[in-house]
Amino acid sequence: MKFGTLMTAAIVAMLPLFNAGAEVNLPAGSTSTQLSDLMIALQFQHIKLWFAGKLSNWSLANYELRQIETNLRKAMPSPSESLRSSQITERLQALDRAIQLKDGAAFAKAYSDFTNGCNACHRASGFGWITIQVPANSPFSDQLFADQIAQGRALAHGTCGLCHVISDSSRETPAFRFPAPSFSEIASRPSFSANDLRQLLTSNHRRVGPSQAMLKPKLVEYQIDAIVAFFETLQADRAR
Ligand code: HEC
Ligand code: HEC
Repeated sequence: MKFGTLMTAAIVAMLPLFNAGAEVNLPAGSTSTQLSDLMIALQFQHIKLWFAGKLSNWSLANYELRQIETNLRKAMPSPSESLRSSQITERLQALDRAIQLKDGAAFAKAYSDFTNGCNACHRASGFGWITIQVPANSPFSDQLFADQIAQGRALAHGTCGLCHVISDSSRETPAFRFPAPSFSEIASRPSFSANDLRQLLTSNHRRVGPSQAMLKPKLVEYQIDAIVAFFETLQADRAR
């Protein structure tokens, strides 16, 4: 079994019903405030999951799905064997499968089914007037939902890869035979920071580098941000 499938099986086994007829089983002594706090966290994660999947940021989508599963488990800590239907199993598995397969269309369908599941429980618990829908706009203007690192990697291969080896010297043969250092060599330099890279790419000079041997590519700000983000992951991988 693949890891994703195993995870889903494990999580689903721990999850009770999420379906009409479900009961909310908070531990004894917990209050409605705790449940409503959990629900607000779920609401945030439900929104973030949508934008992550919509923009094909599958790592973030996977992360939000795990958060949702944890919070759903907290909202329903004592699963009733008889109530464990195949419905929630299918909804969560479909969502997980779409994310693991990076399938945008399957994700949109599974997300909509899952959202109906939120509402089914609200209706069954006497909170039918709390209706969740597929979000139209992200209220999280401080968070980028696009996969910036994947964008940076693609840009690095497309633009910088003309002269630099980006990740694999046995597969990449830069068209220009300049003496350009490989990205992994640059990322392993203790003296070269992500900020130095940003300065290099935003320089006003046409030629950059210690011997001014690099023709500076024309990039807009978000592209520079993405390349710097990708470079920082290379540095982090080296440091690990
Ligand atoms: C196990 C049943 C159940 C499931 C599943 C469920 N909810 Fe809820 N939800 C409730 C209950 C019960 C309340 C009312 C809590 C209270 O205030 O006592 C609630 C309240 C809420 C609220 C209102 C919170 C507030 O204070 O404004 C939101 C938002 C919410 N849920 C979102 C979601 C989302 C999103 C999902 C699906 C990812 C979901 N819920 C799944 C039972 C559920
Ligand atoms: C046209 C060929 C070419 C392209 C395209 C190119 N580079 Fe370079 N790059 C070089 C050369 C040649 C050097 C060595 C510069 C020197 O020694 O002066 C270099 C050096 C560098 C250095 C090291 C600078 C230092 O201070 O040692 C970095 C970082 C770098 N490039 C990043 C990039 C990034 C990021 C891109 C893509 C956005 C890119 N390069 C695109 C040719 C290129």
